[in-house]
Amino acid sequence: MLFDTHAHYDDEAFDPDRREVLAGLPQKGVGLVVDPGCTLTSSEKAVALAAEFPHVYAAVGLHPENCHDFQPEQIERLRQLAQREKVVAIGEVGLAEELKLPVIFHDREAHGDSLAIVREFPAVRGVFHCFSGSVEMAEELLKLGWMLSFNGAITFKNARKAPEVIAAVPLERMMVETDAPYLTPVPFRGKRNDSGYVHLVAEKIAQLKGLPAEQVERQTWENGVRFFGIPQE
Ligand code: NI
Repeated sequence: MLFDTHAHYDDEAFDPDRREVLAGLPQKGVGLVVDPGCTLTSSEKAVALAAEFPHVYAAVGLHPENCHDFQPEQIERLRQLAQREKVVAIGEVGLAEELKLPVIFHDREAHGDSLAIVREFPAVRGVFHCFSGSVEMAEELLKLGWMLSFNGAITFKNARKAPEVIAAVPLERMMVETDAPYLTPVPFRGKRNDSGYVHLVAEKIAQLKGLPAEQVERQTWENGVRFFGIPQE
């Protein structure tokens, strides 16, 4: 079974068929999904989806691109949401430290600033989602105890750094994700993404590392379960 550690099912792209898509994932080999909220509203939706579907967990947070309308009282609401059932991570670094939850870190073309923040909060465990940095940055994050997660972007022709980075990161420190509805892996690039395509990410990692796809699937599942503290039978 695959664990899609980052997919936005609260996104309006899923308004027509959200419940059908989510309900159908186990038959497609996807046994777990984390839906990371990006705003207060989407965090609330993610928490509601986690309450409805046994295989869905939520993260709550405020996405950097949504912070222009940030109000301090949003932090209090976020703190309350973070304490709800099946919330396994948080997209806000200071709160993650306070609430002892792992953080999902979004870094797009802000590698220097991102590393500085990570160094400032040594007690926080986290994952760099959609990792797009260099081998040197990956090695530094690994030393600091962070996980790295990869999605369909590694299947794109212009993903020049990906082969080198994936070769340098031990499988035990990787997770897979879709970032649905965005970043649909090749050969479906351009279509709406969903967790049914996450196997293409695992297969690309397997190909780049010269490992069987089943091994990547099994290890990234175990990594995700451990990282997010998901109860297993
Ligand atoms: Ni995302």
